[in-house]
Amino acid sequence: MRRVVCPGSFDPITNGHLDIIARSARLYDEVTVAVLINLEKSSLFTVDERIEILQAVTKDFPNVKVRKFHGLLVDFCKQNDIPAIVKGIRVVSDFDYELQMAQLNYRLSGVETLFMPTNPEYSFLSSSRVKEIARYGGDVSGLVPDMVHKLLVERLRG
Ligand code: PNS
Repeated sequence: MRRVVCPGSFDPITNGHLDIIARSARLYDEVTVAVLINLEKSSLFTVDERIEILQAVTKDFPNVKVRKFHGLLVDFCKQNDIPAIVKGIRVVSDFDYELQMAQLNYRLSGVETLFMPTNPEYSFLSSSRVKEIARYGGDVSGLVPDMVHKLLVERLRG
């Protein structure tokens, strides 16, 4: 069984994330989407809401499961027998940051990191930008799954 993890905050999931998850699901037997529980960072959606959204938008991929974790990602990988992390790279500055994280994670545990180039259609996309645009009334349809679009409109514009 070839397993990988797609980790992140997913506050909320964007179409860029979904593209990486879908492409990983075509390459590997099992993909675990792991949502970080970060008590220090304020979020728009609770971890359980994010999990519900992720489960809904990945329901057509039978080999994708969604879990939450706290602490070190490599500990989650070890506990779940997952040998590799998949990370999407949008731009070169992502690579700078992700390379250090990948090397540290490997040094800590031997868990590998695989980089997947983001679909160019989404290379400008981030959860924070999506929230900012939606907060000020901009149109984020096409950038996030329809379900997320509706929830953002409800939550940010009352
Ligand atoms: O979507 P994000 O916020 O960019 O995801 C970042 C995430 C969750 C992948 C990263 O912060 C992470 O792995 N956090 C867990 C703590 C950890 O393992 N840190 C790495 C030490 S080298």
